[in-house]
Amino acid sequence: EKGGWDSFMDKEIHEDPAAVQRTLLGRLNKDGDLNLDEVHIDEHDFKAVDKIIVIACGTASYAGMVAKYAIEHWVRIPVEVELAHEFRYRDPILTPRTLVVAISQSGETMDTLMALRHAREQGSKVLAICNTQGASIPRESDAVLYTHAGPEVAVASTKAFVAQITAAYLLGLYLAQVKGAMFRDEIHQVLDSLKQMPAKIQWVIDTQTATIAEAAKRMVDAKSFLFLGRHVGYPVALEGALKLKEIAYTFTEGFAAGELKHGPIALVDEGEPVVFIVPPERGRNVLHAKVISGIEEVKARGAFIIAVAEEGDPDVERYADVVFWRPKAPTLMSPLVDVVPLQLFAMDMANLKGYDVDKPRNLAKSVTVE
Ligand code: F6R
Repeated sequence: EKGGWDSFMDKEIHEDPAAVQRTLLGRLNKDGDLNLDEVHIDEHDFKAVDKIIVIACGTASYAGMVAKYAIEHWVRIPVEVELAHEFRYRDPILTPRTLVVAISQSGETMDTLMALRHAREQGSKVLAICNTQGASIPRESDAVLYTHAGPEVAVASTKAFVAQITAAYLLGLYLAQVKGAMFRDEIHQVLDSLKQMPAKIQWVIDTQTATIAEAAKRMVDAKSFLFLGRHVGYPVALEGALKLKEIAYTFTEGFAAGELKHGPIALVDEGEPVVFIVPPERGRNVLHAKVISGIEEVKARGAFIIAVAEEGDPDVERYADVVFWRPKAPTLMSPLVDVVPLQLFAMDMANLKGYDVDKPRNLAKSVTVE
């Protein structure tokens, strides 16, 4: 039940911190090492994995994109992310050493299910990251890592997304552990930052909700929005754009900020709202300055800038019309916080327009047809 919340979506966004926390629970042993025995793929097979292909649709595919940046960095093996319905109808190069990771909240998405069958027929092992116990996708997979976000009722996926990133990160760190790709201390450090994320998400919910509601009021009549980010901020931009289009029926486009000058900047006109995901670690992360120069470029063309950025970022303060602040977090952790204001913003926009945020038109919670 909805409890005291206006909608399931509202309730579920507020469960983002718990979704991350519950997905971490019980997966670290006393010494702080990862224990994923539940996955039932033996260490020998895990050690042999030399490539990962993530298959998923929609929001789940964006969680996979986020994980690609992290897992390639940690494990030093290639990670491809492909929409399940595209993967299914091509001739992918799979070997017994390829680990296919199917990400699905419902576990019933037909496109993803068909793609996983396609992978298994060719001898690859499939690991499901799923939120629904005993659903078709985990049942047909070789192994499962459950997200423990709890049931997600609203059609638009929210808490499942942060739980999917968390689970995919655990998988990546576990691979790094069994393959010896990282020092134990490094893994522990990453796990420590991961454990701090629920509190940081809570900070965003507690301190940014009013600003977000205010921004939605200001923007409610906007006809279109652009969402831009780089690196892990890129899939976050795609997810922010998807949320807004699916529940507020606003035309949105999300793309990699580096693409601006390769075409999309032509769309920018006086007053066009542009949402930027600004990377953290200003001064240390070269991409921070690159995104800021992207902001300057669209600002010069009259865009209305909404930024998701680290608390107190002086460059952002200078250029942005509206800022949704995030607390300090390492780059790879930032998607877990950055998506939250975008979820709230989409919900506020839909509410202001009088739409049913839990049941957007034309959409079903699980898409069980191809
Ligand atoms: C977006 C949304 C969809 C799903 C997609 C995959 O808010 O809900 O894009 O993410 O249909 O669904 P699952 O994860 O159930 O396979």
